[in-house]
Amino acid sequence: MAYFEVEDLVSYYGKVEVVSHVSITAEAGETVALLGRNGAGKSALMRTIMGLSPPLRQSGRVRLDGRDITGLPPHRIARLGISLAPDDHRIFPHLTVEENLILAQKLTHRDRQPRSLDEVYDAFPLVSELRARNGGVLSGGEKKLVAIARAMIQRPAIIMLDETSEGLSPVMVNQLVQVIKRLQAERITLLTADQNLRFCSKIAERGYVLERGRVQFKGSIREFWEKVEADQMSLMH
Ligand SMILES: Nc1ncnc2c1ncn2[C@@H]1O[C@H](COP(=O)(O)OP(=O)(O)O)[C@@H](O)[C@H]1O
Ligand SMILES: [Mg+2]
Repeated sequence: MAYFEVEDLVSYYGKVEVVSHVSITAEAGETVALLGRNGAGKSALMRTIMGLSPPLRQSGRVRLDGRDITGLPPHRIARLGISLAPDDHRIFPHLTVEENLILAQKLTHRDRQPRSLDEVYDAFPLVSELRARNGGVLSGGEKKLVAIARAMIQRPAIIMLDETSEGLSPVMVNQLVQVIKRLQAERITLLTADQNLRFCSKIAERGYVLERGRVQFKGSIREFWEKVEADQMSLMH
């Protein structure tokens, strides 16, 4: 049995099935890429895993380390160690970056030992440089980095990164890759939703390609490259 398992998950926005019988697995410490064009259902899948609604889960199971966590409310899922760095960041605009991080630290469940600010700043020098800045004035890329820092400060077992490389400068992407390698060295399991195969190939060996809510391909990132090059698959909008 895999460490993390999604089995035959189905969820809906209104009457539209946006996650259609999706099954994915991740081993402890593995990084798994979720690829697919805009609207393919990557964010909907992550939200459904996290217990966030909408979308509304209709059927299927989610298991973490053998435990069925299907249908638990988001705060319980977070407490069990799954964290989402959402594509819309959810950074508090009127708090500084540091205050945003301290809040996440304080909200860490007592079962989990949060990281220190120094540890996060050490891993993420760009976030350290932003610490006194208000959340509301950050660029889109900066907000993404802060959202990851906020997720990692709670020391989760699994981090779901939703479209984190999107809109980042090359310097930011490099730093993101370094942070991800650090998390990998700590055997944190990562699920990364992205449209950028080049970015995924730096951090993951295998993954899934979603199309209209379904898993269209699963396999190694190398196989995905071959498919893109042979024009059998398109990942862009
Ligand atoms: N809040 C929402 N209400 C209704 N439909 C939505 C909402 N958010 C996304 N959708 C629809 O759900 C489908 C999957 O979207 P999404 O999970 O955001 O895709 P991705 O993250 O792969 O770009 C799309 O058809 C999108 O239009
Ligand atoms: Mg998305």
